[in-house]
Amino acid sequence: MKRVKLLWLLCFTLISMQSWANTDIRPVYLRTEYKVNPFVEESSPRLSWELRASGFNQSQQAYRILVASSIANLNKHIGDLWDSEKVESNATNQVSYQGKALQPGQKVYWKVKVWNAKNEEGLWSTINSWELAKPTKSEWTAEWIGKDLNHLAPKGEYHLPPSPYLRKEVKVTKPVKSARLYISSLGLHNFYINGEKIGKDYFGSGWTEYNKRVYYNVYDVSKNLQQGNNAFGAILSSGWYSGYLAYALLVGTPQVDRFYGNFPLLKAQVDVEYADGTKEVFYTDKTWKTGVGAVIESDFLQGETHDARKDPKGWNKVGFDDNQWSAVEVVADKSDRALEMYPSNPVRVVKELPIKSIKKIADGKYMIDFGQNFAGNIRLKHKAKAGEKLVFRFGEMLHIDGKLVTENLRRARAIDTYIFRGDAQAEVWSPSFTFHGFQFVEVSGLKEEPKADFLTGLALSSDLETAGTFKTDNDMLNQLYSNIVWTQLANYIDIPTDCPQRDERIGWTGDAQVYMRSATFNNDVAPFHKKWIKDLNDSQWENGAYPVYAPIPKNDKGLAAIRPSDTYSPGWSEAGIICTYEIFKGYNDHRIVEESLPYMTKFMAFLKSKAPQGAMVEGIWEDATPKGGFGDWLSVGQKTSPDLVANTYYYYCTKLMAEMTRAIGKDQLADAYTKDLELIRAGFKKHYMDENGKLKIDEKVYGNGDGYVEGQNGFSGHTQTAYANAIYSGILDGEDAIKAGQFLRDLVQSNGDKLTTGFLGFKPLLPALSKTGSVDKAYKLILSEEYPSLGYEVVNGATSIWERWDSFTKDKGFVHNAAMNSFSHYAFGSVNEWMFQNLLGISATANGYSEIQIKPEISSGINEASGSYHSISGKISSSWKKTGNKIVQHIEIPVNVKATCYFPTANASKVSINGKSLNSLSYVSNVKEGAEQVTAELGSGKYEVVINN
Ligand code: BGC
Repeated sequence: MKRVKLLWLLCFTLISMQSWANTDIRPVYLRTEYKVNPFVEESSPRLSWELRASGFNQSQQAYRILVASSIANLNKHIGDLWDSEKVESNATNQVSYQGKALQPGQKVYWKVKVWNAKNEEGLWSTINSWELAKPTKSEWTAEWIGKDLNHLAPKGEYHLPPSPYLRKEVKVTKPVKSARLYISSLGLHNFYINGEKIGKDYFGSGWTEYNKRVYYNVYDVSKNLQQGNNAFGAILSSGWYSGYLAYALLVGTPQVDRFYGNFPLLKAQVDVEYADGTKEVFYTDKTWKTGVGAVIESDFLQGETHDARKDPKGWNKVGFDDNQWSAVEVVADKSDRALEMYPSNPVRVVKELPIKSIKKIADGKYMIDFGQNFAGNIRLKHKAKAGEKLVFRFGEMLHIDGKLVTENLRRARAIDTYIFRGDAQAEVWSPSFTFHGFQFVEVSGLKEEPKADFLTGLALSSDLETAGTFKTDNDMLNQLYSNIVWTQLANYIDIPTDCPQRDERIGWTGDAQVYMRSATFNNDVAPFHKKWIKDLNDSQWENGAYPVYAPIPKNDKGLAAIRPSDTYSPGWSEAGIICTYEIFKGYNDHRIVEESLPYMTKFMAFLKSKAPQGAMVEGIWEDATPKGGFGDWLSVGQKTSPDLVANTYYYYCTKLMAEMTRAIGKDQLADAYTKDLELIRAGFKKHYMDENGKLKIDEKVYGNGDGYVEGQNGFSGHTQTAYANAIYSGILDGEDAIKAGQFLRDLVQSNGDKLTTGFLGFKPLLPALSKTGSVDKAYKLILSEEYPSLGYEVVNGATSIWERWDSFTKDKGFVHNAAMNSFSHYAFGSVNEWMFQNLLGISATANGYSEIQIKPEISSGINEASGSYHSISGKISSSWKKTGNKIVQHIEIPVNVKATCYFPTANASKVSINGKSLNSLSYVSNVKEGAEQVTAELGSGKYEVVINN
């Protein structure tokens, strides 16, 4: 009966809502600072929505936002905190809250409605919310607590102290209305209330330049508290704060761990609001007790050991006798360290993988294959006697003899161990404070053949919304796309890393910048980079250069603590500009530009100091280590002059700066950058280009190449990498670009349609070929299955992107086994950008994809392709299929987005849309016939386009 009534009420509400709306246009997917119903700490967070409407060509002419202190108010259409009134604007994102100032802990509700192009009023959205966290440090009562257990680390190869366990009981005397846990750690934490772990997140509070900034997270724990006694518990681990980092051990740096502090610390408080309106705060301070438990060692690189027998039973529940536990140490805060809300999405289990095969390799030893290279952990479910032990070793590949490849882990031990409690049931365990990059797990200590589900693979990644889909009729290419996606998941773990397996896993800036746009097509990476760009800015060197990785711990001399020679490099340092630009462009984010501006202008001044005459001449980057920087890292052909490439990056960054500064109203700066562009181009052409448009260098400057990456092989200006970068960056345009395109084409062709590029050359290679009319060659490269190519990796069984073109070759096997040979390196996945922008043809012509281009490039080798990109303006789809002379395209354009569509025919009469001829359709505008393509403008809607050539 009740349900029927409710249904009636719902219908009535819908009908009455409909009755004042003349159109069905309505906002959906409401987000605040890129998140749905989040905690934020911005006083004027930015709001966004997408639009749905039936019909074609729908757009927003105005919006009205209501923000209220209660749902009841919003239901009455009262915005007691903010009523934007009707704002004439087509903005659907990055609209700043401009209402009353909010109080820390205040939860607000909002909804929005819009008017369409005919000024017809649409439907209200559903109601969403955000809650203001703790915008200032002074809101905090909690202190930093922990326990130095370094003296308990057993003597041995690695210094691995046990995890401190922390606890405290408190009394809740009144009914709770709401409760929030605010939690931050230097190092990693698991937090428990009454025995239950709070949240599904891993690795809080992330990696930052801890001396400048540390993050906190907020959890709604209203339901976790009970009347009477409550127990808070935490386990801490060293993580990035005090654990091993990167290759310090390998390269012999005196300091190999504890780069930021000696032991992990926790700062947590539970803010309670009682039903009677009173408030109480429980927080970490000297009254907390500490002991040790089952986590007897844990480290990102070395792995985790869990002795379940040592678990102090009930330690995180009420009533545990902690008399034997000692007092915690309270550590004073650094007054100049910011404490801020974590901007990104936390790391979580994003996929679970079943075992693909189990193979016995020796007595008690089994090799487990998950069939997929990924980063994360295992979950064990197994029964054994007390004291029995399983040892897990992780690897990405197997040798021909079936043994685990661990040489490429270098000094990362990557071993987990579980010692059984001896429960009557199967014990379930998964590590919390480590992760590995792997596909295979070698398990030792099994007394019998394990069950098929005794292990589950847990893929960890920063939990970012999926944004893209991609599919063709070519299986190799589909697998390649899957490899790119998996490699991104494996390397977007709090920071963008080079690789997840060996003793490295750091935020290499070169890798991040070449891959940046590619990343945006796979996931909604805006919150992730909102964080990392801060890391980058925080890591900037005194001289203005962004570092080669970020965060980058510094020693007492102010040098890189992991390896003092790690400084800056062309192609790496530019990440500070390029990554910021991609967030600005892709997500229409102006605020990130405003916040990064002081750092970016400082960096640009640093670049300019290298190019007093407009060109960065040969040898000018000698001060980097290695000399010239990392160059076209891992290229396989003739080496390209790193200085020549640096010019193309300088031009590109200047161009991006001109655009970004203009957009935020810094016209003087924008004018200055625009002026620089001409200077740089002229300087480059004069210095590096001969009269035929061929790129040349003065090889003599490099002498015998000492100190340069592979300098002994000599450098050239006439390489695929040089032309690809010159074209992509725009430093060469018009006739110059056409000539460069011809040289590039010739170089590819004369090399048997194969690439020679490394990290810096590969990213622009296919886009540059496409841009200069060699789509056929771009297709040859993407479809190649011969060495060196990504297809070669696929046909050799890759499920991820490899670091080197020749990580594995059929004739030579693991060529670089003992050294640097990761099988999960996203840098060469930078081709994803071309796959989305050129093969599918989806690209932004205005910020935030409010104006787009659908221009698929169709050539031989693929007959069918389809995909989509969920932009901040909504989902864009593009597919095409060739049959004989006919091409059928399916295009989906979101509401409020304008698309210029390109149809591969010279004749508009050959094009029909949704069964009608192109020219007869009222919702199509600006139809133009070109020599090879017809263009037309389309608004929102789903279209089937048939081109009958
Ligand atoms: C990393 C790279 C990085 C490089 C610098 C390597 O060890 O794995 O991806 O960019 O060093 O050249």
